Amino acid sequence: MKLKNIIKQNYKIDRKKRENQYHQHGKVIWFTGLSGSGKSTLANLLEYELHQKGFKTYVLDGDNLRFGLNQDLNFSPQDRKENLRRTAEVAKLFVDAGVVVLAAFITPYQEDRDKIKQIIGKEDFMHIFVETPLEICEKRDVKGLYAKARAGEIKDFTGINAPFEIPKTYDLIIHTEEEKPEESVDKLLSLVLHKINLQK
Ligand code: ADX
Repeated sequence: MKLKNIIKQNYKIDRKKRENQYHQHGKVIWFTGLSGSGKSTLANLLEYELHQKGFKTYVLDGDNLRFGLNQDLNFSPQDRKENLRRTAEVAKLFVDAGVVVLAAFITPYQEDRDKIKQIIGKEDFMHIFVETPLEICEKRDVKGLYAKARAGEIKDFTGINAPFEIPKTYDLIIHTEEEKPEESVDKLLSLVLHKINLQK
């Protein structure tokens, strides 16, 4: 879309000033994986650790945003694209605000992941693939949604009757069936801490 008659406004307080005040860099840590793979659990644990260390954080969660900002969207490929585009734009604003964002979204299509990275900017984006096999997610079925999808009560359900494209690239892969959540969080912290710590 061509932007007509819109001129960018500049403000005295910019990202750098905010980051200096918070002693941190704004970044996005984006968790991809099937429903029930453990994205929200890991985002929750990682945020807790970062918060304890004094970092300013915020979680954008797929389920939660669909109660408000994205309540007009369903699970068709087009609506997922819009869901993720809006969320990436919000995450980008948070980065400009100097905040560390943790985003937990299925993000099933490679094209959408590429677009998110492009919107946020690759230097501010970390992509975590929460690799939990479908059989395990289905067995856990914490929300009871896999059973409903198998019964034909949910259409376009990721893994059952809608695709999940395996990510081609990522910054970290977490095998939740092989390691304890605390171990995964340690791996996440080693990836994240030096990137959000303000370089002197
Ligand atoms: S995404 O594909 O657009 O990234 P998002 O992360 O926002 O998905 O939402 C996924 C959550 O919505 C799931 O964890 C699940 O609780 C719920 N959900 C409801 N219907 C579906 C569906 N058809 N496919 C996947 N998840 C669904």
